[in-house]
Amino acid sequence: MLRKPLMAGNWKMNNTVGEAVVLTQEISNNFERDWPDHVDVVVCPPFVDLKPAKTVLEFDRTKVAVGAQNVHWEPAGAYTGEISVAMLKEIGCEYCIVGHSERRTMFGETNEHVNRKVHALIEGGIAPIVCVGESLAVRDDGTAEEFVCAQVRAALAGIDAGAAKDVVVAYEPIWAIGTGRTATPEQAQAVCAAIRATLAELFGAELADTLRILYGGSMNVGNVDSLLAQPDIDGGLVGGASLKASSFIDLVKACL
Ligand code: PGA
Repeated sequence: MLRKPLMAGNWKMNNTVGEAVVLTQEISNNFERDWPDHVDVVVCPPFVDLKPAKTVLEFDRTKVAVGAQNVHWEPAGAYTGEISVAMLKEIGCEYCIVGHSERRTMFGETNEHVNRKVHALIEGGIAPIVCVGESLAVRDDGTAEEFVCAQVRAALAGIDAGAAKDVVVAYEPIWAIGTGRTATPEQAQAVCAAIRATLAELFGAELADTLRILYGGSMNVGNVDSLLAQPDIDGGLVGGASLKASSFIDLVKACL
């Protein structure tokens, strides 16, 4: 297969350190040794949980990566409340979500911020999971693909093909996040195909064919198979269903 699926759990602002250790341990206990041959798995807890989660996984030698949910683009300095790429790298973070719609809508994150973060992450050797997605108003306008592809171009501006090999794009229609309302597999596929065409414009078709595009937005055990069956959907970015070990493990199994 050209692309190895990636299942990413976005815990959002859930789980204290104690709770994170329990959840990570449950995931680890149910994770089979040979799964990493077929699927990459990452959990993205809040910052304070990253190191404890990583420690559990390392102790068990479970090949589940940890990822952050945000990062600042500057290497260090007077940026109260922010976390740098080097801080994430040192504790073994392999991925970082950027441009999640909740950050864009609630915390004023712009395409330019997302672009700076992507540059900093790539320079630091952490794979960015770049989130894009349209609002219901944009979808109803019939311009979802245009809107999402413009977000992809803006996020990846100035990145050359040589640096793009670990980039992951997550298509998350805002109207499907945490609402129980999933995009139909056909709707999701249409946008993911448009994203891949944009990646081909930016980096060439050969590289674009190897980059992973995830779907996110109320992914669950009931809809995962039909979503993963789409040719341009290579995994999931999962919120609610990643907060229980059993449902997250079921989603990982769907990738096998
Ligand atoms: P959800 O969240 O699975 O709870 O819809 C997905 C996300 O926002 O990453």
